[in-house]
Amino acid sequence: MPGPDATEACAEALADARHVAVLTGAGVSAESGVPTFRDALEGLWAKHDPMQLATPEAFVRDPQTAWDWYRWRRSLVAEVAPNPGHDALVALTAHVDKLTLVTQNVDGLHQRAGSRDVIEFHGNLFSDKCAHCDTREPAHTGDAGDPLPTCGQCGRVMTPGVVLFGEMIPPAAMQASEIAATTCDLFLVVGTSAQVYPAAGLAGTARACGAGIIEINPEATPLSAGADHVLRGPSGEVLPALLAALAA
Ligand code: OAD
Repeated sequence: MPGPDATEACAEALADARHVAVLTGAGVSAESGVPTFRDALEGLWAKHDPMQLATPEAFVRDPQTAWDWYRWRRSLVAEVAPNPGHDALVALTAHVDKLTLVTQNVDGLHQRAGSRDVIEFHGNLFSDKCAHCDTREPAHTGDAGDPLPTCGQCGRVMTPGVVLFGEMIPPAAMQASEIAATTCDLFLVVGTSAQVYPAAGLAGTARACGAGIIEINPEATPLSAGADHVLRGPSGEVLPALLAALAA
């Protein structure tokens, strides 16, 4: 865990900020029991090849296998709860003038914790979309092996409402995130390996526009060297400690 001086310095930066933007990644949900993507031993991608499962081509080539994997993720996320890191980000809104929360996570845990107006950069696991006619529907229920969900409009097999590799970021989410990155004066990067673009580029945009950068992550990332403050530790502990320092 970071020392009290580092936490105090970040709390002061938060207190001085007029607009705080936060970008979260899979690490924020790790303490809820959702495996991250790239952590070597537990990461989802260590057990599965993403190119086989999280691409539009996978849903054409072998939709049953791709759907079974997403249905497994849905059932896993449905059984877990937000953790103190999610809760601290909800509470943080009361302590700063303006907070914009951008998440790469598709698990909906920020919203379940109580965060409002969350920008879902990579979509949401609990919706379905049709790649053919662009229809969106609430997620069809189904377990591994069940028949595949089909579009109410055109009858073709749907995909989960997440951004698959090679797909565009939803334009509204992209635009809102870029506005946040260019207008904030403090940018928090929490629990992301910062390897997937364009999300990983938002911190650079914020820095180029003059914002301070705080990274919260137990491990170093490509963003660490350019950060003004780095709090090394799990977000479920670091964020509540930061909130406590801010509220003191
Ligand atoms: P990654 O799995 O790439 O990175 C997870 C990060 O969380 C790593 O930097 C870990 O060090 C950190 N971490 C682990 N435990 C933590 C904890 N308790 N508290 C804080 N941080 C912790 O996940 P993302 O960066 O979110 O995209 O991955 C980005 C995108 O890659 C995902 O949105 C997903 C994936 O492909 C799509 O599906 C489109």
